[in-house]
Amino acid sequence: MRFPTQLIHNQSTIDPTTGAASPPIYHASTFHQTPGTAQPYTYSRSKNPTRSLLENTLADLEGGTQAFAFGSGMAAISAVFSLFATGDHILVAQNLYGGTHQLLTDLMNRIGLNVTYVDMTDLQHVAQKIQANTRALYLETPSNPTLTITDMRAMVTLAHAYKLWTIADNTFMSPYLQKPLSLGVDIVIHSATKFLAGHSDVLAGTVIVKSGDLAKRLDQIQVIYGGILGPEDSWLTLRGLKTLAVRLDRSQDNAQRLAHFLTQHDAVQKVHYPGLPGHPGHGLHHRQAEGPGAVLSFELLHPHTIGDFIKRLRYALYAVSLGGVETIVSHPATMSHQALSSSEQRAMGVTPGLLRVSVGIESAEDLIEDFGQALNFSVTKAETTTR
Ligand SMILES: Cc1ncc(COP(=O)(O)O)c(C=O)c1O
Repeated sequence: MRFPTQLIHNQSTIDPTTGAASPPIYHASTFHQTPGTAQPYTYSRSKNPTRSLLENTLADLEGGTQAFAFGSGMAAISAVFSLFATGDHILVAQNLYGGTHQLLTDLMNRIGLNVTYVDMTDLQHVAQKIQANTRALYLETPSNPTLTITDMRAMVTLAHAYKLWTIADNTFMSPYLQKPLSLGVDIVIHSATKFLAGHSDVLAGTVIVKSGDLAKRLDQIQVIYGGILGPEDSWLTLRGLKTLAVRLDRSQDNAQRLAHFLTQHDAVQKVHYPGLPGHPGHGLHHRQAEGPGAVLSFELLHPHTIGDFIKRLRYALYAVSLGGVETIVSHPATMSHQALSSSEQRAMGVTPGLLRVSVGIESAEDLIEDFGQALNFSVTKAETTTR
């Protein structure tokens, strides 16, 4: 079965009890038990039928054996970092989502998890930073927000040589475009808030693994910490998943066209998008993924005109988040990566003029016209302010 068919004809297609074409939402915190009988469901923090349906579907789609659904992407990432103990060391890609960076810097350091940020595009640099207490490599590819590409096969080979886990945040791609477990990665994470759910109406996260040992450890963490996804949001994520392929096909096509348009506009200094042949990770990305995705970022030539550019846009939402059906523009320096110091931002390529665009499923012509008129305004504004 091919992926788009799998999205429709999976375990949630027909409710076995009633034949309903949509699964029920089990709004139950607890379940009646029969003494002396082992029961699949006892308390919804441990397991809930609606969440189980989503978890089984996600495990199938990513090519894993078990998935765990959490109340947000950050809850999923926190659960993964809870696999480590005081004194452990992990190597983390220097280009990554600001919230992950903040979690490691502000909280995980308190429990004595040691972190070294590395340039994951440089294999030798990563190898040199491995220590006796290193336990894992943590990466994001493409990374948020500069879309740098990490060679996952190379990282897995390196990790195997030192018996490390490889962990990949696959939020920007989704399993439709990239399946890290099939490349040997041990743990896949998603902010399911984004492309998986797809409609900017739910916060969710997931962790997916293949190994039984990791599944056992994560199961314990999920139940004990309790940051689980509720039944209503599990159902919304299941519904969103059905259209993942059509949404991403359309958004990706729009992104490709918008990226090309942006490269030709005078008000744009640089465009970061792995779908452009000039992107440094273009070839590598296409050897490990099925497409460039729907997120790009670009640098405005005149950063001081950002406010005017944003106000001028008619269709895009100016907001944090990505992966919805609507186009969303965000300013990483003051939004997703605002918790980082300016030198940390600079090291990541988060410049004051950088804007991230999650391209939606609107008409590409409308988006291009809209960005075009807002960029022209940015040029005019820059000229009048420098005069
Ligand atoms: C790559 C990536 N990972 C994780 C997260 C965190 O997800 P959530 O906001 O669902 O907690 C985000 C949020 O933007 C993200 O972009």
